[in-house]
Amino acid sequence: MKLGNLDLGNRLIVAPMADVSDAPFRKIAKKYGAGLTFTPMVSAKGIIDNEFHALRILAFARDEKPIGVQLLGNNPEYLAGAVHELQRYKPDVIDINCGCPVEKVTKHNLGAQLLDDPIHMGKLIEAMVDAAGDIPISVKLRLGKSDGKINILETAKVAEESGAAAIIVHARTRNTKYKDDPNWDWLLKVKEQVKIPVIGNGSLFTPKDIKEMIERTKVDGVMIARGALGNPFIFNRYRELVENGSDSGEPSIEEIEEVAIMHSRLIAKEYPEAVAVIKARKNIIWYFKHLDGIHKFASTIMRTKNIEGEIKMIHEHVEKLKQNFYPKDDRELINQKFKERVLFWLNE
Ligand SMILES: Cc1cc2nc3c(=O)[nH]c(=O)nc-3n(C[C@H](O)[C@H](O)[C@H](O)COP(=O)(O)O)c2cc1C
Repeated sequence: MKLGNLDLGNRLIVAPMADVSDAPFRKIAKKYGAGLTFTPMVSAKGIIDNEFHALRILAFARDEKPIGVQLLGNNPEYLAGAVHELQRYKPDVIDINCGCPVEKVTKHNLGAQLLDDPIHMGKLIEAMVDAAGDIPISVKLRLGKSDGKINILETAKVAEESGAAAIIVHARTRNTKYKDDPNWDWLLKVKEQVKIPVIGNGSLFTPKDIKEMIERTKVDGVMIARGALGNPFIFNRYRELVENGSDSGEPSIEEIEEVAIMHSRLIAKEYPEAVAVIKARKNIIWYFKHLDGIHKFASTIMRTKNIEGEIKMIHEHVEKLKQNFYPKDDRELINQKFKERVLFWLNE
């Protein structure tokens, strides 16, 4: 799939995810076959103001390329300034977030709030495109504000006319919760509406889901968020499904163990230990979420104080799994809980 002049080699894109799609996460996804990864959303103003937090989020290593940086902004000057600043880092794509429904974002007229004013949204995209030189600009959209206010055909067209190289469509409205299914039918309508590449997003959890979305909606590429948590295997499995006609299925427990440890060590390299322990925890739990004993394992790993302790816990947990130590979990219930709230083991 091509974004501007950039050829991704495949159609699989890792979604921007706040507090999740950091360098360790992206490196593992890439190793397992993702064609493009994204940083979490980063404030355009934060970049201009040289805020440490913003610069930390957008930092990436050269061997992570191709990579996209996602910006959050609502002011054409700030967005253009941030894009100009980003030229130094040479990301392969720069995206504008027009989909985040979280109140602390929308109340500042950012994220999904931009969907309410397509004309202003168009001005923001134009400002970014003008500042970007040959870096392609993508726009991450939702269907609209609510079921009664779906305006994706309009926003998609505005994005195209404003110079965007691609659009990413999360097939939910701003008001649709994760527990409700996305409406993929809109993706097909969007494909008929614009000529630029359309990337479909929403509830892709298995290689079969990816294949089905591409076949049903004709999207050029797919973006995966929750389906990649503790599951970089989804990228390779999709490639195998396409190449061999069959899915190799869930990885072995030894492979999960190996990748969970590799991921934890990358996190340990990236952050000070106190931060790394917390970041590794949630990723480790995600790797084992579909296996028995997950709640027991989650509460044990919560108590560990360092990465080596966490790795020891992984080994012990895997041994217990091999010995069928745990009673059978209600798989469907856990899966449902995870889809609704990715930190499914925490009390609300
Ligand atoms: C933990 C988490 C963080 C997210 N952060 C962002 C973000 O920074 N920017 C963004 O555009 N979307 C963000 N999203 C939304 C995803 O990119 C994606 O659009 C959404 O989860 C639907 O895809 P999925 O069904 O594959 O999860 C986030 C989602 C999750 C689960």
